[in-house]
Amino acid sequence: MTPPLQPRTRTHLPRRTVSIIGTGSYLPSRVLTNAELEKMVETSDEWITSRTGIRERRIAADGEFTSDLAANAAKAAIENAGIRAEEIDLIIVASITSDMFMPSTACIVQTKIGAKKAACFDISAACSGFLYAIEIAQQFITCQTFNTILVIGADKLSSIVDWKDRNTCVLFGDGAGAAILRHRAHGHGVITTRLGSNGELADLLQVPGGGCAIPITALNADQNLATIHMKGAETFKHAVNAMVDSARQVLDDAGLEPSDLACIIPHQANLRIISAVAERLELPIDRFMVNLDRFGNTSAAAVAIALDEANRTGRMKVGDYVLLVVFGGGLTWASSVIQW
Ligand code: UT7
Repeated sequence: MTPPLQPRTRTHLPRRTVSIIGTGSYLPSRVLTNAELEKMVETSDEWITSRTGIRERRIAADGEFTSDLAANAAKAAIENAGIRAEEIDLIIVASITSDMFMPSTACIVQTKIGAKKAACFDISAACSGFLYAIEIAQQFITCQTFNTILVIGADKLSSIVDWKDRNTCVLFGDGAGAAILRHRAHGHGVITTRLGSNGELADLLQVPGGGCAIPITALNADQNLATIHMKGAETFKHAVNAMVDSARQVLDDAGLEPSDLACIIPHQANLRIISAVAERLELPIDRFMVNLDRFGNTSAAAVAIALDEANRTGRMKVGDYVLLVVFGGGLTWASSVIQW
């Protein structure tokens, strides 16, 4: 089902008041290859590569938590932005694998990076979380509530993967990406963002257990309820439709055509999804930043890690129009157009 077209309102008028002044990312060192997965479940490198494009993914160490991935990405972004941690007014962490229910992962990151004056909170929008957090940051800065905001997408999906389910365990990895946003009146910046959700399709992609609805108890502990459950083929179809429609909406808001884009940074779930989006937008696939072959699907971190890689490898030049487009559980989706 295509996301309903949202009416154009003032909210969606182009803005250029908030810039991404630095990016960072962190991937754990342990590489899990398709060949290793062949020994764990009934799968093959050929199936995984041809159906998803994924060749390997990173897995966090036992004592390495989402807050550690996030803090490392944050430190890299702070250095890239050329600021001090003490300048950060707000930390937003997007994640579905928080270290614990309370406190927020953002509060734990605050201590790990020494951002003493920051306010901190987490948001939950699955794989779309990083762009949801970018839009929240944009609003806070535009309203002059805060000046410097650290946005992080971080997930340790290996902690919620059912390693016996070949339908899901081959897809996911661990990692974090971060961006520093700041008011920069004369610079380039985030032009406009669209967010969307459809809770009626929540059952396509969920972690049903472990919350207050279905607590994990001695009676259900063997049912793997606190792991990712996904109806893959249906999710695939919605992912393509939602990403294409939301990309078109945000480009329309910004007064741009797909051909104006120098670089597209999509959610890294499946190379076939990215190819279908490229085809529908009539864009060459080489304009899309793709790193899922090395990192798999890292949920909220995926687009943030890809943004950092695009930044550090010179894929975006000053003044370029860049589209970020994501999709995930909820269902949720989002698109942002940035002038780099
Ligand atoms: O990040 C949030 C958003 N996530 C997504 O957007 C993911 C969207 N979905 C997908 O990327 C794809 O649907 C998958 C990669 C998950 C699955 O690919 P598919 O082409 O849709 O496969 P399928 O689920 O329709 O399964 C086809 C066959 C099945 O066998 P039968 O029933 O035809 O005999 C599966 O059991 O492939 C089988 N299969 C596997 N075979 C080998 C499923 N997983 C595997 C596997 N290795 N790992």
